[in-house]
Amino acid sequence: MPLTFELQATCPDTGARAGLLHTDHGTVETPRFMPVGTVGSVKALAPRTLRELGTQILLGNTYHLALRPGRETLRALGGLHRFMAWDGPILTDSGGFQVFSLAGRRDVSEDGVTFRSHLTGDKLFFSPETVVDAQRDIGSDVMMVLDELTPATVDRAEARRANARTVRWAGRAFAHARATAPHYGHHQALFPIVQGAVYADVRRESAEALLDLDAEGYAIGGLSVGEAAPVMYDMVEVTNEVLPQSRPRYLMGVGTPQNLIENVARGVDLFDCVMPTRNARTGSLFTTAGLVNIKNARWAESAEAVDAGLDGYHSRTFSKAYLRHLTLAKEPLFMEIASAQNVGLYLWTMREMRAAILEGRFPAWRREWAGRLAEKA
Ligand code: GUN
Repeated sequence: MPLTFELQATCPDTGARAGLLHTDHGTVETPRFMPVGTVGSVKALAPRTLRELGTQILLGNTYHLALRPGRETLRALGGLHRFMAWDGPILTDSGGFQVFSLAGRRDVSEDGVTFRSHLTGDKLFFSPETVVDAQRDIGSDVMMVLDELTPATVDRAEARRANARTVRWAGRAFAHARATAPHYGHHQALFPIVQGAVYADVRRESAEALLDLDAEGYAIGGLSVGEAAPVMYDMVEVTNEVLPQSRPRYLMGVGTPQNLIENVARGVDLFDCVMPTRNARTGSLFTTAGLVNIKNARWAESAEAVDAGLDGYHSRTFSKAYLRHLTLAKEPLFMEIASAQNVGLYLWTMREMRAAILEGRFPAWRREWAGRLAEKA
């Protein structure tokens, strides 16, 4: 079945929307956060725990999965859903972001990108077509096109040049996807990516050009790469003025809980970010009471729950003092509890926003929470 998006409610005072994204692996209630499982695992969290936390869709990464375990292994084992024992929807990023981060190890041409594997040093080639083929082997429900990323500091002319290539590459990716079939019997959608750095006119140009593809959804890329938050919000706003109301919008790689709230207010439906899992591992917790550095001596004898405001097992069962002890003792259990807390908080934030949009009280919810989640507890 093609991917469909059902708009359930729109906020009359902001751009916020609530909807249902139907995939062959189930329905995703939007707005939604997708935990990041780069190599086929959300670090320290088993699929059962992810479900308990409210995960409805996961993110994987084509670059990492194509390098290891490799396309052949994934194909032989029936695709990523089976391989990692996650039966819900999966979205895969194309690897564009990773390849373009390999400064000095890559060579870009109109054809594609040649680069060296960060694992073996082997020379590899990604094109708009091979990246679709790799995602066919992975079997993601939503595939992403290969895009050309620019640094945050790029000038307008360079942003326009790179975006024009991203648009041409999207055309090639769509032609290839339409000429090839999924391997595993479920539908695979393909989303193009709006680029344009921090230039409103290039962003509009990008979104308008991609509309011709009549895609099942659209992504917004090239943000949260060093620009100020208000600039990011402006870019999302101008892009969403062009993108169709009837299709889901995915903002790539963003951000803090506050960023999620502000971008939902501007019409974004899907997000992913490594921040909750990455920060968890260094002891930075997101809680309903604000930001907590669990290593701080202040928590040494705190019997308070990690987060009494959430109802998840990990958040409610263990004390702050115990969690602090686990990280100081370098116990692996720390990773699970801290990751569950942060992913749980992100998913809670999205559920709260969704309920507020459906019940017509999103502006009040945003006023109450946007600041609170960003303060130090
Ligand atoms: N992840 C975060 N930002 C981006 C982007 O602009 N492109 C891709 N492919 N992935 C991303």
